Amino acid sequence: MTVTSGTATQTFIPKAAEIAREAGARLREYFIEGVETEYKGDVDLVTVADRTVEKLIRSRLGEAFPEHGIYGEEGTRERMDGEYRWYVDPLDGTTNFAHGFPQFCVSMGLEHRSEGTKPEDDGTLVAGVIYDPMRDELFTAERGRGAQVNGRPARVSRVPELAEALLATGFPSRKRHASPNIHFYHEFTLRSHGVRRAGSAALDLAYVACGRLEAFWEFNLNPWDTAAGILLVEEAGGRVTDFAGAHYRLASDEILASNGLIHEELIGFFADLFAGRNLSPIPTAEEFARARKIKNSQEPIGSSQ
Ligand code: IPD
Ligand code: CA
Ligand code: CA
Repeated sequence: MTVTSGTATQTFIPKAAEIAREAGARLREYFIEGVETEYKGDVDLVTVADRTVEKLIRSRLGEAFPEHGIYGEEGTRERMDGEYRWYVDPLDGTTNFAHGFPQFCVSMGLEHRSEGTKPEDDGTLVAGVIYDPMRDELFTAERGRGAQVNGRPARVSRVPELAEALLATGFPSRKRHASPNIHFYHEFTLRSHGVRRAGSAALDLAYVACGRLEAFWEFNLNPWDTAAGILLVEEAGGRVTDFAGAHYRLASDEILASNGLIHEELIGFFADLFAGRNLSPIPTAEEFARARKIKNSQEPIGSSQ
């Protein structure tokens, strides 16, 4: 998506990338200095970095695109009736950040809401920027113009089946006991090369877009987590739906993003798991402990070599 002003055709990406880099640099400084952590819920963390960097992004976006709306995780709600709307996560991966685990990013996705778009309907995602300040990696996408990582084209992987795939997922920090995702984690771990749980949904999506992961799924994410990453995956040749294969909406409770090639296979497994079919049982911890005790009593150290 481009904006034409006079004779010049300008894209949103250069300015958004500059803002994401500035925001990321601030996060990096805070990360190195160390910051105090507060609790939003029982394990839902927030730091001064989340709030300060959202303010910074809000002010920079406001200067660059004064008519655009902004919807940020830390409470920004500006010009929500605007034709364009930025979904901003100033710090995706706060738990990692607070523990000194260097996997987090800034995520900014831009939606175009043409006249007549109802408040409950999505517009079209037109631009997305994700910046990882610890690796200095900038992931960008614009609708119809492809996806890039540090300016080089990004493409999804060509791995054709789940058995050869590396996957990622995440778990909520609110209402943890209500989430069934550990069952999906278990089943997909046993059917693939493994499931990473690295703690930043936006980076997980960016990694699907550049072929480091074959797929990512999660329950109950918010548009600030996903908007930029969805466009990256789609522009890199991948597919994003809900777990049943339906068109992904920003308010969806489920996201499944993949290289496209393994998407139908994944949807089939989601259907099986939701129906309780084809499960892969593993021993309970108690059964395992019992078997281990018997084994240890029968085998002195070194006897099995
Ligand atoms: C979280 C991260 C994490 C995901 C959580 C999100 P935050 O965002 O994206 O990977 O599993 O569901 O809430 O709170 O660090 O911005
Ligand atoms: Ca987030
Ligand atoms: Ca956040």
